[in-house]
Amino acid sequence: MSAVAEQTQVLADRINALEESSTLAMTKMARELAAQGHKVISLSVGEPDFKTPAFICEAAKKAIDDGFHGYSPVAGYPDLRKAIADKLKRDNNIDWKPENIVVSTGAKHSLANVIQVLVNPGDEVLIFAPYWVSYSEMVKLAEGKSVIVEGAFENGFKVTAAQLEAAITPRTKVVMYASPNNPTGAVYSEAELREIGAVLEKHEGIYVLADEIYEYINFTEEGHFSMGSIPALKDRVITVNGVAKGFAMTGWRIGFIGAAKWIADGVEKLQGQVTSGTNSIAQKAATAAFNGPLDATKEMTKAYARRRDLVVGLLKEIPGFKVNVPDGAFYAFPDVSYYFGKSDGTNVIKDSDDFANWLLNNSYVSTVAGSGFGAPNCIRISTAAADESLAEAVQRIKDAVATLK
Ligand SMILES: Cc1ncc(COP(=O)(O)O)c(C=O)c1O
Repeated sequence: MSAVAEQTQVLADRINALEESSTLAMTKMARELAAQGHKVISLSVGEPDFKTPAFICEAAKKAIDDGFHGYSPVAGYPDLRKAIADKLKRDNNIDWKPENIVVSTGAKHSLANVIQVLVNPGDEVLIFAPYWVSYSEMVKLAEGKSVIVEGAFENGFKVTAAQLEAAITPRTKVVMYASPNNPTGAVYSEAELREIGAVLEKHEGIYVLADEIYEYINFTEEGHFSMGSIPALKDRVITVNGVAKGFAMTGWRIGFIGAAKWIADGVEKLQGQVTSGTNSIAQKAATAAFNGPLDATKEMTKAYARRRDLVVGLLKEIPGFKVNVPDGAFYAFPDVSYYFGKSDGTNVIKDSDDFANWLLNNSYVSTVAGSGFGAPNCIRISTAAADESLAEAVQRIKDAVATLK
């Protein structure tokens, strides 16, 4: 047995059972090709290409100068928890006090915390698909069982209330969704979320994990709706959000939950043993973000909307691509299954993993296979890049697939 195989055996089963993040794996391969001198256009990572607004950076610099260098309270500084409670009231019509808020190291951490706190081995977590790659792995780590409920392409990749109702069993503990969605950009309307909410109202033991990290990147006229604002569900909805996407702050690592106090207390207890309070400087920056103006956020959203139009328009010109029009976030998610079974003379494209790998190696455009998102007919293309790069990337994809027979 090789040394690596032997070492792998020593790793805990829970780590051996865990999938690697497909978005991070593709991004790594793209970096390697770029290091070899290829002109790679990387559209695999889910990251704004903007810089954090200046007023937020200034708050971070001031926090350093003002001496915020020590441990912070486990659930976050009081002024940040207050700013988040105010934000939830202002933007989401959710009335939580600072004691209902727990700040963590990114929305990813917030989601993972809640799953650890609520899910017992064997509990079912209903995940609306297509879903963000980490959801099912977080459930696996808690020894829960992911039950995937698929939103149809024809319904804008959205799950209906009837589908949800049919998937509920006595073991269902949590329902988990993101709106706006990664990878599809789908936005659930208020009417759709109220219908889903009406189903959940009938099932008292089910909790809802509402991932709203793309809240501000919403192109609909109606805007964002939070399930946590439905009074009958308020105590059972855990609203997760953060600063990463709307304020272009992915690296600052601030996320939060707004939840019933006993859930917030559970998360604080877990966090107290695992990470403690998150980065003090980033918390001060996030306080400025939540208390500050949204002008920069709105400008970025305008740019994402323009790029959505550009990319979707160009993708629709590619023969065989089925293209949904995303209402939010910064991804296009075309169905490329028309090309499965086709070949360039040497390689046969069997599935979305083959397709994404082949594209990277033949057109030097990195995308992510839909398989990791529970949508094996699709690929995800990030639209968080300069307009010229996006136009060139789609042209390269179009030229590459024209060689497949
Ligand atoms: C749907 C979704 N939820 C949560 C996150 C994590 O956000 P954060 O960077 O705040 O951890 C991401 C990041 O890609 C995401 O796409």
